[in-house]
Amino acid sequence: MLTKKIIKENLNFILFGASGDLAQLKLFPSLYELVWQKRMPAHYIIFGFARTQWTHAEFRDHVEKSVRTHLDHVDDDLLSELLAHVYYVSGSYDDGKSYEQLAAEIHRYQPDPSAKTLAYYAIPPTLFQSVTQQLGGMRTQFSGPFHIMIEKPFGQDRESASDLFQFILNYFDHDEVFLLDHYLGKSSVKSILPLRYYNSVLNFLLQGKEIANIQISALETLGVEERIGFFDQVGIVKDMIQSHLFQVLALLTMSMPVDEAVKNIRREKGNILAALRPDQRPGSLVLGQYKGYRDQPGVPPDSNTPTFAALRCYLDLLDWYRVPIYIRTGKRLSHKHTYVTIEFKKSIFQENTRAQPNRLVLELFPSEKFKSTWSINMEN
Ligand SMILES: NC(=O)c1ccc[n+]([C@@H]2O[C@H](COP(=O)([O-])OP(=O)(O)OC[C@H]3O[C@@H](n4cnc5c(N)ncnc54)[C@H](OP(=O)(O)O)[C@@H]3O)[C@@H](O)[C@H]2O)c1
Repeated sequence: MLTKKIIKENLNFILFGASGDLAQLKLFPSLYELVWQKRMPAHYIIFGFARTQWTHAEFRDHVEKSVRTHLDHVDDDLLSELLAHVYYVSGSYDDGKSYEQLAAEIHRYQPDPSAKTLAYYAIPPTLFQSVTQQLGGMRTQFSGPFHIMIEKPFGQDRESASDLFQFILNYFDHDEVFLLDHYLGKSSVKSILPLRYYNSVLNFLLQGKEIANIQISALETLGVEERIGFFDQVGIVKDMIQSHLFQVLALLTMSMPVDEAVKNIRREKGNILAALRPDQRPGSLVLGQYKGYRDQPGVPPDSNTPTFAALRCYLDLLDWYRVPIYIRTGKRLSHKHTYVTIEFKKSIFQENTRAQPNRLVLELFPSEKFKSTWSINMEN
């Protein structure tokens, strides 16, 4: 299950926003990892695209620095191999001529005319529509499959997300569009499903009928620094809960699909997300903002954007119906820790005793481990 796949089709990978934060923090190191894991196809090229004026060589230096900064062990030969496939085009996101140049450059360096093209949007959401429109025109020059990959946030709410998707469908088919959340690429989050697949005992215990509550905590010591402009618009709930932490919840509570086919995983996750119900009672949602948040450059002095949130919700599914789910997350807290606690109902032997309930704790950060505390009643 959940095996690492080798990319078989030759690939043109275009990275829009190649000069940005996401690219250097996550994407270049990930591309190196793919080379290191020998998962790249025979012919692949990586094209950075942004307004920043760089030559191919300057961009390669930038990629090299990012990989060396963000990974512990870098093999020089493998890094050179990656860099030999890296190119750059500087242009405007809404200028057709820039895309003509990009297409011409790709054809110049890619020997396989029917290679798959994958365009990754590491750009602010305000640019999604113009890039999509331009790519819609450019794709006619490519005979192979053509996909676009878009990072969250995708719209600000259901309506704007739906409008954006409808816009994209003017240029791409549904199955040519990948919407992604890179939190799901974290190894600890990726390990939740295999953990359940390979531990039938654990999986057996993950039944709502046996569980008293689930607590998901993602606590950060850092405040909001470089991403303040973005963060102040969205706040902690949209940044962490409705994306990352609901995904963790879905991975833990969903019915296990029979295989790893994307459509099966999506269906089961969708069942959980569709069944989520916020607790409407007073006190079920607590929001806060850390001291000093409004003093940071770029934050309006009256900003009410929350940097902390704790909430209680339920799943409207028969097995999980009365199981409270507590989610809490915040910035600039006393310690950094991401973990899930699953607390079991007391057994008849534990009832009316002071024994602590049995708990399973799944640690996602800093360590990746799984521990249980089984209480033994010593009173009698
Ligand atoms: N950074 C993260 O950890 C993170 C996490 C989750 C999701 N995301 C999402 O991933 C996407 C990229 O994030 P990022 O942090 O890399 O963004 P970023 O650094 O702010 O922007 C990426 C690049 O886009 C170009 N750009 C920025 N603002 C622009 C503007 N107003 N007009 C035209 N071009 C502009 C810049 O390149 P040029 O000026 O060279 O063109 C910049 O280097 C965003 O949608 C973000 O919400 C990021």
